[in-house]
Amino acid sequence: MTNVTRNNKYTKTHAPIVEALKKAYENPSYQFHIPGHTKGNGTLPEFKKLIGKKALEIDTTDEFDNLGTLHPATGPIKEAQELAAKAFGAKKTFFLLNGSTAGNLALAMGLTKKGQKIITNRNCHRSVLTGMIISGAEPLWLVPERFEEWGIWGNVNPERVEELLKNHKDVSMVWITNPTYEGVVSDIKSISVICKKYNVPLIVDEAHACLWNFNEHLPTSALKLGADAVVHSLHKTGGSMSQSSMLHISENSILDVDSIEKALKLMHTTSPSLILLASLDAARANLESSRGQKLLKRAIANAKYLRSEIDKLEHIHQLKPDFGYKTDVTKVFIKADGLSGKRLESILEIDFNIEVESASDAGLLLLSNIGNKRSDIQYLVDCLKKIDNTNYSDICYLENKKHMPMLTPIIKMRLRDAFYSPKETIPKSQAVGRIAAEIIAECPPGIAVLLPGELITENHMPYLTDYDFIEVIK
Ligand SMILES: Cc1ncc(COP(=O)(O)O)c(C=O)c1O
Repeated sequence: MTNVTRNNKYTKTHAPIVEALKKAYENPSYQFHIPGHTKGNGTLPEFKKLIGKKALEIDTTDEFDNLGTLHPATGPIKEAQELAAKAFGAKKTFFLLNGSTAGNLALAMGLTKKGQKIITNRNCHRSVLTGMIISGAEPLWLVPERFEEWGIWGNVNPERVEELLKNHKDVSMVWITNPTYEGVVSDIKSISVICKKYNVPLIVDEAHACLWNFNEHLPTSALKLGADAVVHSLHKTGGSMSQSSMLHISENSILDVDSIEKALKLMHTTSPSLILLASLDAARANLESSRGQKLLKRAIANAKYLRSEIDKLEHIHQLKPDFGYKTDVTKVFIKADGLSGKRLESILEIDFNIEVESASDAGLLLLSNIGNKRSDIQYLVDCLKKIDNTNYSDICYLENKKHMPMLTPIIKMRLRDAFYSPKETIPKSQAVGRIAAEIIAECPPGIAVLLPGELITENHMPYLTDYDFIEVIK
């Protein structure tokens, strides 16, 4: 138990799953149940050495050792979800394994039906698309602003949301990705006012923004701006382990929570990892604690420092908030004169041993994380300075592919109908003019190049250099 400061109030925080797991570890039982490696005794010794004995000793699933269950939520898992709801300002929070992907699939499956329309931005994550294939709902595409100079998608225009709502009476929900992968923030408040006017629920995919509720210098979470549900990939920036996320239902949500819960149960594994669940519980407790607050402040200060140093460089530039949109300061999108984003990424990786979050045609994305020390940022700054002072024109880095899909689709068939239609696989050279039958949306950023039912054109070819064959409708 620790005393922590949040919103100027002292509250007590604890991490029930972490505590229950610790108790189970300290009071070991004879186990005749899954997982069959039984505290690591049945695993490869090299793996045990690598991951650590203790990690295997606490690797268990729900039901055992008074650890509670995930579906339905009971015991420490239920308590941890309730604490998370409070911390994020939600009415209810569900812990997700299989990432925010599981949340998006459950939202589509639980809330929409075949033939209904979902208004969503074209740069949504592919899990939103998979959700629609499962439920049979159809996208009504919002094409956001394009920041051509930066080769990225920008913010969603609220007026465009209203236009679509005015013209379509069968819309089951509006589903907005905010922020974009590169940190561009849309005006969710205005979009939520419009959704309320048309009595249509608003879902916000905040996969990249779980920190926003924990520092006033970050943008405001959609949970406070009128969204009905929000997904957060805690594993992306919140400090939990890979694959662990949260789905929040907002205080005044008009959604049928029971349907979402039923869909989640269908989507989830029946053997949830207690380690992953504990890591979500720990991430929430950490972000609420004074230590976590300090780490987040450091991440923001580091980002500001990095940005101020980039401003001093001659050939490297950063995306900054401009009129009409804001950005998340911790996501630093940069580009260099004369170098593609992929080439800049290769230089950082090969010459300086630096891994970035993602790179595309124009630039690359750096995250200033709660786990980054000032010395990490200083190293990055020093390397960027060296790159700024080097002429790379005589060095060859392979690059002949486009990365950030920014195309307007030509839709020929319904998404689900196309996905389940008879298909054939043909050489890419014969694909122009045919109708795509598969989702092509490589990660990162998981944004669609082509979806089932869309016409394949010459414009798609630069994005498909890694493909020899394409699946098309027969
Ligand atoms: C906007 C967006 N939503 C959802 C997801 C899926 O998240 P997860 O990897 O947690 O399943 C991603 C992943 O990159 C994403 O970028």
